[in-house]
Amino acid sequence: MKALILSGGHGTRLRPLTYSQQKQLIPVANKPVLFYAIEDVIEAGIHDIGIIVGPNAEQVKKTVMSVDWDANIEFIYQGDPLGLAHAIKVAKDYLGDDDFVMYLGDNILREGIVRHLEHFKKGNFDASILLCEVPNPQQFGVAELSEDGKTIKRLVEKPKVPPSNLALVGIYFFKPVIHEAVKHLKPSWRGELEITDAIQWLIDHGYKVGWTKVTGWWKDTGKPEDILDANRLILDDIERDIRIKTRAKIIGRVVIEEGTEIDENTVIKGPAIIGKNCKIKNAYIGPYTSIGNNCIIENTEIEDSVILEGSEIRCGGRIVESLIGRNVKILEQNNHPIGRRLIIGDNSQLTL
Ligand code: G1P
Repeated sequence: MKALILSGGHGTRLRPLTYSQQKQLIPVANKPVLFYAIEDVIEAGIHDIGIIVGPNAEQVKKTVMSVDWDANIEFIYQGDPLGLAHAIKVAKDYLGDDDFVMYLGDNILREGIVRHLEHFKKGNFDASILLCEVPNPQQFGVAELSEDGKTIKRLVEKPKVPPSNLALVGIYFFKPVIHEAVKHLKPSWRGELEITDAIQWLIDHGYKVGWTKVTGWWKDTGKPEDILDANRLILDDIERDIRIKTRAKIIGRVVIEEGTEIDENTVIKGPAIIGKNCKIKNAYIGPYTSIGNNCIIENTEIEDSVILEGSEIRCGGRIVESLIGRNVKILEQNNHPIGRRLIIGDNSQLTL
């Protein structure tokens, strides 16, 4: 059994962050989203992992290889991102005759994949998918089940009128027959070779497609609000772990990493995580906040936000529900002319 983890694509819905960073590397609770997928696969006993890379291939390789994983990891270059089924085509030689799990590197599944993999193996399925009830099925692939709910009748990608509220999670188990299915695909309305269509091909040709239902939470972190949501969900499960000495008031489940300095006028209320070598002064860090390494926070309140590494926030006031990229500076205005002075990248979003 192998794993194919997808870490390509342009991440257009996460611009401007994705102009300089691959979307699967954006951290949730200070860990790249992609690492959650790698951990799940290894936990399920799979130690041969192919990672599909695209425009920021070197960045993904460097980040992944900075960790000593209990796995053989290979990187497979996709070229233009022409769809999830296209990624399987590109990885055909790597996958060979093995069964495999395909895991979209921007998905996070709280419960991991162990139970789902067992179902795939026990049922001797040609493919097995994960389904999760969602309030917005139009934004996903959606499954229509048979009357008795035992089998899948039909799968549709981003339907205007969804046949159910069961979304396809971005984690799929396949036998090698999927290589035959992807050969027959034509690009969809969005110009991609859809994995949903490949699985539909298996159903139409009498192959055995199983499914399991996700019981905990699942997040596709494609949009900024999804990153904030995933951050809340992961922080909900952290344990208190303070690795520095400080006289700051620290309430509840807070993680603070080595080398960070926090003065006595600061209050931190968990769940929250603060990375290495930050300097925090006269600040309030509120629940559901993740602050990356090497940040400076001064005279500011931050709550329910994700701040990436190297950013400096000294603006007074309160920042909420925000996703702030790397090496961003948000400073206070204290000389004339008074007014908002902005140097902001393309596709940024400000609510003033
Ligand atoms: C892809 C799949 C879709 C699935 C989703 C899960 O969508 O095409 O069927 O529900 O991943 O994350 P995309 O992220 O390409 O819009």
